[in-house]
Formats: sequence, C-alpha cells, structure tokens
Amino acid sequence: MFIIKASKYRNKIKKVLIDMAKVTILNEGVTFEVPDGSRLLEYAKKHSNMLFGCEQGKCGVCRCNIAKGFENLNQKTSEEEHTLTRLGAYPSQRLACKIIVKKGEVEIEY
Ligand code: FES
Repeated sequence: MFIIKASKYRNKIKKVLIDMAKVTILNEGVTFEVPDGSRLLEYAKKHSNMLFGCEQGKCGVCRCNIAKGFENLNQKTSEEEHTLTRLGAYPSQRLACKIIVKKGEVEIEY
C-alpha cells in the first residue's frame, strides 16, 4: 500500500519539474506547450493543421519558416540540410518533422 502511494507521488513530482517550451503557429494563431526537448511533430499534429508527409525529413511537405526562437531548436541534421538545399529553402526555414524544441519560445509559420 505504501509503495503504491509513493509511486503516485513520484509521478506527480516528475510532472511538476518538467520545463515547458511555448510554440506558436503564427498563421493559425495557435499556441501550445511542449516539454523541453520534445520532437515538434507529435505536438504539431495534435494542436495544429500543419501538414506532414514522410515524417523523416525527405519529402519537404512540412517546410516551415522559423520567425522567432531559431536558437531554441536542435541543429539541422545532414539529411534535413540536404532536403532543404534541394528545395531551395531560405536559411530561416526548417522541416517541422525534424525539429526538436529545446526550450523557450518558438514562432513558426508554414
Ligand atoms: S514530412 Fe516529409 S520532410 Fe517533413
């Protein structure tokens, strides 16, 4: 009995200690939070109408512009760089399916 209660407490404490980043999809006027270090893909699919195709950084369907908070994202992988170069993307553009939100605030438009 005591072990079960302690386990419940531990889960609650973990939830409190997780820092959340704020993501705004400018063209939809939608803002949502993601745990620091989360892949944007699953949260964008849940909270926005952003389109995804391959979800592996190959097709480019999820190309988006980072209006604010570029420094709060992971580095581009070589695969993402390759796809963005092939598409003639601007330096401020990323593939949403390859984005990991590290922390802070990020503003995106697609
Ligand atoms: S969904 Fe294909 S590159 Fe992101």
